[in-house]
Amino acid sequence: MSKSKKSFFKRIFKNNEKNDQQKNLTDQNKDNLERNERLTNVSERKLGFDTLQVHAGQTPDPVTGARAVPIYQTTSYVFKDTAQAEGRFALTDAGNIYSRLTNPTTDAFEQRVAALEGGSAGLATASGAAAITYAIQNIASAGDEIVSASTLYGGTYHLFAETLPKFGINTIFVDPDDPENFRKAITDKTKALFIETLGNPGINVIDFDAVGKIAAENKIPLIVDSTFPALKIS
Ligand SMILES: Cc1ncc(COP(=O)(O)O)c(C=O)c1O
Repeated sequence: MSKSKKSFFKRIFKNNEKNDQQKNLTDQNKDNLERNERLTNVSERKLGFDTLQVHAGQTPDPVTGARAVPIYQTTSYVFKDTAQAEGRFALTDAGNIYSRLTNPTTDAFEQRVAALEGGSAGLATASGAAAITYAIQNIASAGDEIVSASTLYGGTYHLFAETLPKFGINTIFVDPDDPENFRKAITDKTKALFIETLGNPGINVIDFDAVGKIAAENKIPLIVDSTFPALKIS
């Protein structure tokens, strides 16, 4: 066989191999898409706590079918066009903009915890202290007050007693053993009641229903720091 003929057949063979590989990949994608559909439907069924722990909040990647939640190490996201970018930044088009705001890995975690807690949504933060600070700063500003159980984790106590007052937010600490103490401390400046599920370090348990009722009657939220117990308990 001549040299040019040989190279011609080699090219054909290579192309066939490539086509086979591509076909395999397409078949695999189809399989993955079908599997993904099945899994998505599964996630709509009423799942038990154990299943939610491993699957809630995740739709398996449609291309690879990867079971574990991928870790998206990206800060930024690609937009289809400038109109989409405009919509994203104007918050009229829900989607990722920047990882400090939203990230698919964090989103799966947030949805999973919300599903386990029976909550409507979740927001992940880098630490418990950040979560508490966000929770307060979101609803209170200079001149406002918080009524908190006095039985608190030291870091939270310090935040309420020392740090937040520098921003004009004051906390009234009450003995939580008598829920009526919360009611007595509420003024028209009160923006929230605050307790821990299990007090740290006292492991005291507050009457949630009674304190929750007082919060609802005064149309203010009851913020509960549930650091200590496992999700299923809280
Ligand atoms: C009850 C409670 N709340 C909040 C925190 C603060 O959490 P982090 O250390 O993640 O800021 C702790 C830490 O031990 C804690 O025990």
